[in-house]
Amino acid sequence: MQNFIFHNPTKVAFGKDSIAELKNLLPADAKVLLLYGGGSIKKNGVYEQVVAQLGDHQWFEFSGIEANPEFDTLMQAVAMVKEQQIDFLLAVGGGSVVDGTKFVAAAANFEGEPWDILAKGAEVKSAIPLGCVLTLPATGTETNTASVVNRQELGKKLAFLSDHVRPQFAILDPQVTYSLPERQLANGVVDAFVHVIEQYLTYPVNATVQDRFAEGILQNLIEIGPKVFEPNNYEVRANLMWNATQALSGIVGVGVPQDWSTHIIGHELTALYNLDHAVTLAIVLPQMLRHQRKVKRGKLLQFAERVWHLDISDEEAAIDKAIDSTEAFFRQMGMKTKLTEHNIDDSVIRLVPRKLMENGIMQLGENADMTPKDAEIVIRAAM
Ligand code: NZQ
Ligand code: ZN
Repeated sequence: MQNFIFHNPTKVAFGKDSIAELKNLLPADAKVLLLYGGGSIKKNGVYEQVVAQLGDHQWFEFSGIEANPEFDTLMQAVAMVKEQQIDFLLAVGGGSVVDGTKFVAAAANFEGEPWDILAKGAEVKSAIPLGCVLTLPATGTETNTASVVNRQELGKKLAFLSDHVRPQFAILDPQVTYSLPERQLANGVVDAFVHVIEQYLTYPVNATVQDRFAEGILQNLIEIGPKVFEPNNYEVRANLMWNATQALSGIVGVGVPQDWSTHIIGHELTALYNLDHAVTLAIVLPQMLRHQRKVKRGKLLQFAERVWHLDISDEEAAIDKAIDSTEAFFRQMGMKTKLTEHNIDDSVIRLVPRKLMENGIMQLGENADMTPKDAEIVIRAAM
């Protein structure tokens, strides 16, 4: 196992009616900016529940954060934060709202051009504190340090990481997921699944807790995946929510090599074709595993045996079956796993490696031995 420091201080309030905890979690006297997306929280009653908890706080609101949050929109929120001298940000929504709020938190305190945080990895020295009420279990952003921001005019979707933007608290009430459309529930299952894979399916370092934890989450997701579409099934939604949080809270990834090549290529597909984040992962991951089967051999066999319960006496057949089963699981969740199924033509084969190079991404994978050329092979196979 590799060395690590683990510290995840996000306070989680989980369960039925946990939005009622908000009044206890908000810092006293905070001047709050409530940030949200396109209006789902107004239709499902979450907005009213949140507002009821704001009590005597002085508060303002900023709406319209898009799925795949847009840089320009977020900069409007930054202007509002400065103008109103906001000192606490409350994100209410899915991963895009929480990620967008993290960027606003960092950009509001940043001296210089905020785009550099994403494009040049400029150091984030401080941020406005934030908390969140999560409405879509998928990304894990509610307790982690990551944020992904889109800038359509440049065709770029880029991420940054900072301890300063980890939410102080995350409120997780599984009941708020009842209003999610099937498409977003499927996205949640697939995104969480691939988060675990990116941290688990690399090469073995004898990290037994991380491995068993990862295998547990993967098996949970396979088991509950088809049931997440059942309306108002609290137990299933509760487990979806906590699995998704833990898939990217940091605990699975400590002390182990990590990959993230599927995500990085997926972000390029979203920037190019506006595909949902998880939709891109369902396309890339199966081909990525096939392309990297030699490098990932040890862990692929472990995955085959422990997650898919396959007989691994014929090792090549077991690896084939494990990857095929993963792809079949995505399809069972309603995902298309080929680019042509999304009416994307083969110019994508040339565009993705070019975009990676433009963004300075020349090395991918747990050994940093994949290049944009490998991405081209993966994309070609995913046609
Ligand atoms: O905008 P509203 O009206 O709220 O509607 C949203 C949006 O249209 C809707 N929605 C959310 N909660 C709902 C709901 N509709 C009905 N009922 C509810 N309870 O769902 C749509 C999609 O929301 P979005 O926030 O975009 O989805 P998700 O949570 O999947 O987030 C995706 C974003 O997170 C990034 C992705 O790249 C993408 O930009 N990621 C962030 C990560 C992180 N910070 O750690 C890791 C991930 O790998 C990912 O990259
Ligand atoms: Zn993801």
